[in-house]
Amino acid sequence: MVVGILSRRRSLYTTRRLVESALKLGHETRVLNPLHCFLVLSQRAPEIYYRGLEARVSDLDVVLPRIGASITEHGLAVVNQFDMMGVPLVNNSQPIARSRDKLRSLQLLARAGIDIPKTVMVSDPSQIHRALEIVGGPPAILKVVKGTQGIGVILAETEQAALTVLETFWNLGMNILVQEFIEESEGRDIRALVVGDRVVTAMRRQASVGEFRSNVHRGGTGTVVDLPESYRRVALEAMRVMELQLGGVDMLESETGPKVVEINSSPGFEGLERWTGVDIASAIIEYALSFARSQKRKRKGGA
Ligand SMILES: Nc1ncnc2c1ncn2[C@@H]1O[C@H](COP(=O)(O)OP(=O)(O)O)[C@@H](O)[C@H]1O
Ligand SMILES: [Mg+2]
Repeated sequence: MVVGILSRRRSLYTTRRLVESALKLGHETRVLNPLHCFLVLSQRAPEIYYRGLEARVSDLDVVLPRIGASITEHGLAVVNQFDMMGVPLVNNSQPIARSRDKLRSLQLLARAGIDIPKTVMVSDPSQIHRALEIVGGPPAILKVVKGTQGIGVILAETEQAALTVLETFWNLGMNILVQEFIEESEGRDIRALVVGDRVVTAMRRQASVGEFRSNVHRGGTGTVVDLPESYRRVALEAMRVMELQLGGVDMLESETGPKVVEINSSPGFEGLERWTGVDIASAIIEYALSFARSQKRKRKGGA
């Protein structure tokens, strides 16, 4: 089969590993930079051309989109076009878009009964005092709705600090969440990597000294963790609610159990493979191929 990988660079660890695994399993790969995909729309004939109008992309059995936050919009248009062409996707565009919006994600998770840190959306300085009270602060966490890699996640120690930060972001036209600070997690969190309905592996991340954000991009380090059943259940349920097939679920270890903070729909797994020794790339490729086969069977069945 032919596995397409949407990625800006084939030298990126995660992309390279996915290519390697597909080849090892006897399949072909095409790495496509979403920024070089030309989308052609006409009645009933959606097409994608690559690097100009010469080469039409037509032979992919399944596509794995790895869409960085900086090109979300264009990337999602390309993902949508593949969907229109009937190419199976892991993940599809809607779930990716949903996961990029922290407010939307938390709304859906909370409605489904999944525990999250208490979160308030405010848009007016006069409401900040009350918002902090609701989340049990200060201190409280302030979060940019569309941030990633720990950028845009701030710990405000006082009401005055919260006010200053919020007014700065509002001035830039950005939406901010005020969130309960889960202090007992002490700069640690759990990242569970889920593929299909299986937690492939999980690690506990520890933030570097003087830092509360455990993101690998912020210097966090990981150790392999034997995931308790309650965390496993919550990770799978969160993925189901978000309708993601592949994702990295971030959970804080609170006194009352797991609290989901976010789900990444293009999870990088360099740290996870290094720290857990699990072959995540092969798990993803195997899942993508079996998903592609099941979609093909469905279509043949006239569904
Ligand atoms: N409410 C919170 N309480 C304590 N720590 C938090 C909270 N929210 C986030 N963090 C820490 O900050 C990190 C980044 O937050 P997250 O919501 O995952 O944003 P990003 O998309 O930038 O990774 C988390 O991995 C966690 O270590
Ligand atoms: Mg995160």
